[in-house]
Amino acid sequence: MPKLEIANEVAKRRTFAIISHPDAGKTTITEKVLLHGQKLQKAGTVKGRGSKQHAKSDWMEMEKERGISVTTSVMQFPYRDGLMNLLDTPGHEDFSEDTYRTLTAVDACLMVIDAAKGVEDRTIKLMEVTRLRDTPILTFINKLDRDIRDPLELLDEVESVLNIMCAPITWPIGSGKSFKGVYHLLRDETILYKSGQGHTIQELDIIQGIDNPELDERIGVYAEELREQIELVQGASNDFDLEMFLSGDLTPVFFGTALGNFGVDHMLDGMLEWAPKPQGRPTDAGEVVEPEAPGISGFVFKIQANMDPKHRDRVAFMRIVSGRYEKGMRMRHVRIGKDVRISDALTFVAGDREAVDEAWPGDIIGLHNHGTIQIGDTFSWGEDFRFTGIPNFAPEMFRRIRLKDPLKQKQLLKGLVQLAEEGAVQVFRPLMNNDLIVGAVGVLQFDVVVHRLKSEYGVQAIYENVQVYTARWVYCKDEKKLDEFRRRAEHNLALDGGENLTYIAPTRANLMLTEERYPDIEFHKTREV
Ligand code: G4P
Repeated sequence: MPKLEIANEVAKRRTFAIISHPDAGKTTITEKVLLHGQKLQKAGTVKGRGSKQHAKSDWMEMEKERGISVTTSVMQFPYRDGLMNLLDTPGHEDFSEDTYRTLTAVDACLMVIDAAKGVEDRTIKLMEVTRLRDTPILTFINKLDRDIRDPLELLDEVESVLNIMCAPITWPIGSGKSFKGVYHLLRDETILYKSGQGHTIQELDIIQGIDNPELDERIGVYAEELREQIELVQGASNDFDLEMFLSGDLTPVFFGTALGNFGVDHMLDGMLEWAPKPQGRPTDAGEVVEPEAPGISGFVFKIQANMDPKHRDRVAFMRIVSGRYEKGMRMRHVRIGKDVRISDALTFVAGDREAVDEAWPGDIIGLHNHGTIQIGDTFSWGEDFRFTGIPNFAPEMFRRIRLKDPLKQKQLLKGLVQLAEEGAVQVFRPLMNNDLIVGAVGVLQFDVVVHRLKSEYGVQAIYENVQVYTARWVYCKDEKKLDEFRRRAEHNLALDGGENLTYIAPTRANLMLTEERYPDIEFHKTREV
């Protein structure tokens, strides 16, 4: 494969995900972004809840019932001379480990913040995950067509709560009914807002130069106010710095309204210009595989079962790290040590699956999985390395799971272990009793598991409450000390689906005390798969 061709394809691509708190506007901004990519002719109102229309990414049976999206879908669309891969992260009650793990497959994130609400807790959690890899973050402050909080105060909040510096790229003029538009600090131009244009790509109404008298004619008293504010903002906030952005220390901030499709293009311009092209990934050999490596490689970050109910199949989502995927090529499935022929990889356009003939670093392809592929698996051109950094995350919610029909214990275990391998949920078996404890990051995972246990494994299970605050994977280099800990803390220890030792803490205080009491034991919040 000529390196130049790879380099050209890579240079075009940007692979990113959106992080936000539910209702901040992720779905809406996704539609507008696709509209800019002209995938959707007209970005309609696509909210599923209660209405017949569904967002283009709502497509599983459960999603249709609930009007929410359970699965990560991948959207590829052209923007200017670039090609964007937007990975959809499950957001509402369907928030799950998939959401977290999707963030390991991207090279940048867009953080969407509701301008009336500021930084909310889901955003804080997701930002924590992006910090594991210092992913560069762009910020879009949304809903400027409503009454909002003071923009400077919002930036302060982002800086102090999320511990990242803000560099405003655009600055809002008014808000709510008197939202006039934004001033672009780098381009020295004012882009005027017209309401009711959200379904289209608008003709831009731009006034060059902040001192341009036309600005006073068009927006009256707001012009002078803007000049004062910009002076203040330039004094009080950070300038954009590419290196600091790339290291995850600074975020460029854009203001706008997703619903009004205003300001989204500024953000996309920033994404294309500044976000990193598809990056290499580290391996267990301590090296980084770059996109121009000698052949195809990638890692699986998500497995989705029954994407097509007619076929009851499972699809593994692989992020390509290096080389070119070509239909019919062979790849080494490293964990099982076999070379496999891939003739039917898929791409996804929000649920529409299409066979893909070629794909490049930064792209996501779907591999048909007949039970051999697991989350975290590496595929390569023939060498035996494994990509690292695709973790399991400590669950935050727990339930004891019990069968309605006790005779089906075997099927239950089998189902749970498989669902755990897929990352749908985590299972813990305490060392001291026969309980089965299910752990999840988001509450909908519990429903999904019961639903799938019934439809795929024929078992009816129910949940009971259990007193668990959190789980931590336990490590210790010193075997003796680990043995001692195992003996003393037996009542709180369990094995997870992959037989890894886990400390199950009933309360926060208990965890803190245990950590203090056993300083030689490491308690990990994530575990490499
Ligand atoms: P999410 O995916 O992050 O959960 O948010 P989503 O896009 O679904 O947006 C949540 C709600 O906020 C929606 O209203 C949506 O229309 C609204 N919204 C998004 N962006 C803007 C904006 O820029 N301005 C205003 N005013 N509203 C915005 P909803 O009432 O929940 O749904 P719907 O019935 O209006 O579709």
